[in-house]
Amino acid sequence: MRLKDKVAVITGAGLGMGREASVLFAKEGAKVVVFDLNEAAGAETVSMITAAGGEAALVVGDVSREADVKRAVDEAVARFGKLDILYANAGVLWKDRDRSVIETTEENWDIVQAINLKGPFFLTKHGIPKLIGNGGGSVILVGSISALAGFELAQDSYTCAKGALISLTKSLAVQFGPKGIRTNIIHPGMIDTPLQAPYLNDEKKKSIAGCIPMQRLGVASDIAYAALYLASDESTFCNGSELVVDGGFYAM
Ligand SMILES: NC(=O)c1ccc[n+]([C@@H]2O[C@H](COP(=O)([O-])OP(=O)(O)OC[C@H]3O[C@@H](n4cnc5c(N)ncnc54)[C@H](O)[C@@H]3O)[C@@H](O)[C@H]2O)c1
Repeated sequence: MRLKDKVAVITGAGLGMGREASVLFAKEGAKVVVFDLNEAAGAETVSMITAAGGEAALVVGDVSREADVKRAVDEAVARFGKLDILYANAGVLWKDRDRSVIETTEENWDIVQAINLKGPFFLTKHGIPKLIGNGGGSVILVGSISALAGFELAQDSYTCAKGALISLTKSLAVQFGPKGIRTNIIHPGMIDTPLQAPYLNDEKKKSIAGCIPMQRLGVASDIAYAALYLASDESTFCNGSELVVDGGFYAM
């Protein structure tokens, strides 16, 4: 029960790493607000939690809409009485529309920024005052190894949004550390989730695995366990840090 009596809002909790973290956090004692655009997926995450004896509430909304994100934060406090953990996990990777700057339309650039960067802005904007009111807490942002290095197959808007989240991590860490709020960012490597599914087949997975020192792609639980550490009181001296979880890919 590493998160006993804590309350978390997790965005993008319907599928992939967000679902995995929601179920894990609940298993460890947290009450979870499952926030997602996909109502059916979010409802299934909530069912998985309640079936295992945990507590969760579903809020359907879009992270790029401020009112939706505020609703999720307000629901956490209304339903569970407080808020301890903000996990800004929702993000999109659109390799077909978000490419090199010389190939990307302004509209597609803006949509990717709105979801991947403005979403975490809205969650921290509305969530941090609740954490302050509660005497502290943990903010977890999700970057990517693609914000740490250039790749020939570019997704420039995605990369820039994730890079900006590193700067936001440092700024929030310094601003709110004195109030007991720590902010850290996880950089996943290649993780086998629905986000990557359209771009992967068995042959591609095998060739990617061969480029990773651990010789495999990541799975959602690799990231969920990293997030669990950052959410729990075990990490109370961890602030402003970047946790790379990529099987050693970035180390090469
Ligand atoms: N999978 C990877 O290889 C990888 C690598 C690096 C970083 N990441 C990042 O990790 C995070 C989670 O990725 P994942 O692979 O679990 O993704 P996923 O696509 O498997 O799941 C994302 C969830 O977010 C939801 N979502 C999407 N847009 C939303 C919006 N506008 N508002 C609310 N919910 C929305 C989706 O409905 C889905 O349930 C993302 O921020 C992603 O950029 C993923």
